[in-house]
Amino acid sequence: MVSRASLKIKIEKLKEEINKHNYLYHSQDEPEITDVQFDLLFRDLQQLEIDNPEFLTSDSPTQRIGASPLKSHTKIVHDLPMLSLDNAFSEEDLADFEARICGRLKTKNIICYSCEPKIDGVAISLIYEDGKLVRGATRGDGTTGEDVTQNVRAIEAIPLRLCGTEYPRRLEVRGEVYFPRSAFKAANQLAVRLGERTFANPRNAAAGSLRQLDARLTAQRKLSMFCYSVGLVEGGSLPGKHSEILFKLKTWGLRVNPLVEVRAGVKGCVDFFGKILTKRAALDYDIDGVVFKVDRLDLQSELGFLSRTPRWAIAHKFPPEQGVSIVKDVAFQVGRTGALTPVARIEPVKIGGVTISNVTLHNMEEIARLNLMIGDNVLVHRAGDVIPKIVSVIGKGRSSNMHKIELPSSCPACGSTIINNDVIAKCTRGYECPDQRKENIRHFSSRLAMDIEGLGEKIIDQLIQTSLVKSPADLYKVSREQFSELDRLGPKSAENLISALAISKKTTLSKFIYSLGIEEVGEYTSSILARYFGALDPLREATIENLLAIPDIGPVVANNIHEFFREKDNQLLIDDLMELGIHWEIEESSKKNEVLQGEVWVLTGSLLNVTRNDAKLRLQALGAKVSSSVSSKTDCIVAGDSAGSKLMKAQSLNIRVIHEDELLDLFSKYYE
Ligand code: IVH
Repeated sequence: MVSRASLKIKIEKLKEEINKHNYLYHSQDEPEITDVQFDLLFRDLQQLEIDNPEFLTSDSPTQRIGASPLKSHTKIVHDLPMLSLDNAFSEEDLADFEARICGRLKTKNIICYSCEPKIDGVAISLIYEDGKLVRGATRGDGTTGEDVTQNVRAIEAIPLRLCGTEYPRRLEVRGEVYFPRSAFKAANQLAVRLGERTFANPRNAAAGSLRQLDARLTAQRKLSMFCYSVGLVEGGSLPGKHSEILFKLKTWGLRVNPLVEVRAGVKGCVDFFGKILTKRAALDYDIDGVVFKVDRLDLQSELGFLSRTPRWAIAHKFPPEQGVSIVKDVAFQVGRTGALTPVARIEPVKIGGVTISNVTLHNMEEIARLNLMIGDNVLVHRAGDVIPKIVSVIGKGRSSNMHKIELPSSCPACGSTIINNDVIAKCTRGYECPDQRKENIRHFSSRLAMDIEGLGEKIIDQLIQTSLVKSPADLYKVSREQFSELDRLGPKSAENLISALAISKKTTLSKFIYSLGIEEVGEYTSSILARYFGALDPLREATIENLLAIPDIGPVVANNIHEFFREKDNQLLIDDLMELGIHWEIEESSKKNEVLQGEVWVLTGSLLNVTRNDAKLRLQALGAKVSSSVSSKTDCIVAGDSAGSKLMKAQSLNIRVIHEDELLDLFSKYYE
C-alpha cells in the first residue's frame, strides 16, 4: 500500500519532470524525450490526479485548459504602464538617438545596447508569484488591459511554474505572444479544409487566438512567446543589465529570443540590423524591425521616459514591404510548356531595399480579379523572398489613358497560334518557339535538373540567339572557342563552363527525367518514376496502363509522360544525350529501397538540419511514400520545430512520432 506522503512526492516528481521536458522542448529547443514518451508521463500524472483529487493544484501541467469558457475578459490595470517605442527608419535616426543619449548622460563613452528582434505579435504581461503563473494580461491601451490568464495558461511555451528557486517572490514578465509561421500556415490550411474563415496574417491570428473566451481554442492554435523585459518586481532583486535579466529569465524557463545580442554603439546596432534583415525570411516568426535598448539599468534610469516611450530604447523598423506604382504595360512571357504568363511592367518602386519593375500577374483570371488596366495605380507587396505581387488597384477612377489588358492573338515570341482555355493560354509551336526553347534549356540546366554550374540566363539567351543551341543536347556540342566568343564570357569562364558541362554528365536517373521537362513531371514524380522503373528504357516504353499502376501517378500525368516519349523529336533528343555520355548509376532495388517499403510518412514543422525536400527524397528512396496529410494510413510523422495541427492529429490517432534527430539517425544508416 502506497502512503499518502509518498503519493504526493510521486505526483510532485512527475510534475517536475513534465515541467522540465516542457522547458527543454519549448525554451531550449532541445527535447530529450519523444512526444509519445512525454504523453505517457502526462497521462500518468492525469490519472494520479483523478484518483487523488486532493493533490491536484492549479499549477499542474494538466491544468492548462482546466477552466470553462468565459463570458467576457475582465479589465485589469497594469501596475506599471506597458509603454511603446519610438521608431527609427534610418541610420541617421539611430545616430540622432545615440546623440540624444550621450548628450543627456553627458558622456562620450561608447554605450552598449541589448539588440533584439522586434517580434510582430501581441504584447503580454505575465505575473509569477512564488514561481507560479497567476495572471496573464494583454497590453490594451498600455494602462488598462484584459485578463487573459486562462488563455496564456493554454500556451505550452509559457511555463506555469518557473524553474529553479532564485526568482523574485513577485515577478512581472513582459513579452510578445506570436503565431509561429509554420503553425499559422497549418492553421489556415485546416481552416480551408473545414471551410472556415482563414486568418489574414500571423499577428491578427495571434491576437484573435489569445483573446478567445474558450481557452481550448487558444490551446489548439499552438502560439508561442518571447520574453523581452520585466515589469514590477517585488521580493527579490535582478541583475543590473538588461541582457543579464534576459539571461535570468531564460534560466527560469521563460523563452527569450536566441538572436538577442549586446552590441557596442550605433555602429554595432547598424550591423545587427543588417544581420537580422538577412535572417528575417528564414525565421519561423514575423518580425517588423529590431529593438535597441541601453543595456545598463542605471543608465536607463538616468535617461528616463518621454511621454509614453523610454529615452533608452528605440525600434529600428524594417523598410515597408509595400509600395505604390503604376502599371506601364503588360507583356506576355512564354514558358517552357508554351503557357503565356502576363507580367506587369511597372514604374520601378523600391520595396524592402529591392527595386521592383516587373510583377507577375499569373494568368488572365488574376487580371480580371484585380480588375486591372494599363495605367492603373497599384499597391505592390513584397514579403521576404516571395515573388512580388499586385495586391490591389488604388483609386477606382478610370481615365482615357487606361487600357484594357488583352491576351495577344498570336505568340509574342514566334507569332504562332495561341490556344486558350480561359485560364491558361498557350503557344502551339512547341520547341520551335525561341522562348520555349530558352525556358527548356534553363530548366534542363537548373540545379535540380542537370545542374550545369555557371550557365546563366544571359549566356542561354546568346546561345539561342546565335542558334548555337537549339536543343539541350546542343549544349554539350558547343566548343570552348565558341563559348569564349560570347559577350562577357572570357576564356576562363568558357573553360569553367566546359568543365561544368562535363561534370553534369554524371547524374541520376531521377534528375535526368526531371531535366526532360515533361509537363507536370516535377522532382517528386521524377523520383517516383526513377525508383519504379530503375532504368530509362522501361520508362520510355511504358504504356499508359503501366504508368497508371504507379501510386501517385494520375491519368493526366500518365498521358503527358506517354505522349512525351512517343514524340519523334523527344526520342531523338534522348538518344542524342545518351550518345553524348550522360549517364547515371543503375538504381538497383537495393536494401535501401526496402527499409520503409509501403510505409506512409508525413513531415511537419520546420526541420533545422536537412531541407524538407531532401528529407522527402531520402524517405522516398528508402521506400516510403511521403504524404502531406495525416490519416489513419500514416505510419510515422516527423515532427520538426513548431509542429502544429498535424502533430496533434497524429497523436490523437496514436501514430508513431519521431523528431528530426531520429530522422537524421535513420538517414545516417543509409546515406554517407
Ligand atoms: S520593449 C519600454 N522589446 O513592440 C519598452 N518591445 O512598438 C517596451 N515588441 O508594445 C517594449 N519585440 O509589444 C520591446 N524585443 C522587444 C519587442 C518589443 C516586440 C513590441 C512590444 C511593444 C511594441 C512597441
